[in-house]
Amino acid sequence: MSSFSVKNVNQIFGSGTAEVHVLHDVNFEAEPGTLSLIMGPSGSGKSTFLTIAGGLLTPTSGTVEVNGVAYNERSKKKRDALRLDSIGFVLQAYHLLPYLTVADQFKLVDKVKPNGNLSKEELDDVLDTLGIKNLLNKYPGELSGGQQQRVAIARALYPNPAIILADEPTAALDSSRVAVVGDLLKDLAIKHNKAVVVVTHDARLIDSADHLYEMKDGYLTKKEVVKA
Ligand SMILES: Nc1ncnc2c1ncn2[C@@H]1O[C@H](COP(=O)(O)OP(=O)(O)OP(=O)(O)O)[C@@H](O)[C@H]1O
Ligand SMILES: [Mg+2]
Repeated sequence: MSSFSVKNVNQIFGSGTAEVHVLHDVNFEAEPGTLSLIMGPSGSGKSTFLTIAGGLLTPTSGTVEVNGVAYNERSKKKRDALRLDSIGFVLQAYHLLPYLTVADQFKLVDKVKPNGNLSKEELDDVLDTLGIKNLLNKYPGELSGGQQQRVAIARALYPNPAIILADEPTAALDSSRVAVVGDLLKDLAIKHNKAVVVVTHDARLIDSADHLYEMKDGYLTKKEVVKA
C-alpha cells in the first residue's frame, strides 16, 4: 500500500519582480486508511500543492516521495507508470473529454490501463452511490456542473488507485451530495485502505476527516479535527 510524503516543498512562479512564492517549506504525509483535508482560502496554494503532490508539477525545491522513493529519483517512464497505477486525481476543472459519453470515459481508462480497474459490479456500485448510473449515454456538455463533478469522481476511482488526490470535489454539489461524497471518500480510505487527500473550501467535509490542515498564504499547518 502506498503512503506518500511531501518534504520541504517550495514553489516559486515567475522571476524577477514578477516572482511569486506560492508554497513555503511545505511538509505533509498521508498514510493508507486515512482521509486528510486541506482547507484554505482562494489563492492560498491548495491546487499548486495538489499538483505537486501528484507529480504533475516539479517543485522549485523539495521532494515528494511515494513509498519512500522521490518522484525525481524515478525515470519519466516509471513516474508516468506510478501516476497511472497509484494516483487518482479529481481535478478542479473536471477534465472530462467532451466528445466521449460518460460510459466511454471509463472505456478510455481501460485502453490506457487495461488491468486492475474496478470490476463492472464495483463500478456499478460507485455510479449508484453517486447517483449517476442513468447518465452513462450522455456527453459531458449535457450534464450539470454537479453531475460532471460526480462523473469525474467516479472516473478517478475507476483505476482503483492507492492514493486519491481531490481538488474541491464538492464545489458544485448541494448539501445532500456533499454528505454522499464525504462518506464515499471516507469509505475508500477506511474499507479500501487508500490515502485520500482532499483540498477544499468546504467545511462540511470536516466531519469525514481524520486529519485536518490549513493552507494560508502558502504555509501548511496541522489542525485539530473538531467535529460538529
Ligand atoms: N502557473 C502559474 N504561474 C504563476 N502563478 C501561479 C500559477 N499557478 C498558480 N499561481 C498563483 O499561485 C497562487 C496559488 O494558486 P492556487 O491555484 O494554488 O490557489 P488555490 O488555493 O487552489 O485557490 P482556489 O481556492 O481559488 O482554487 C495564486 O496566487 C496563483 O495566482
Ligand atoms: Mg484551487
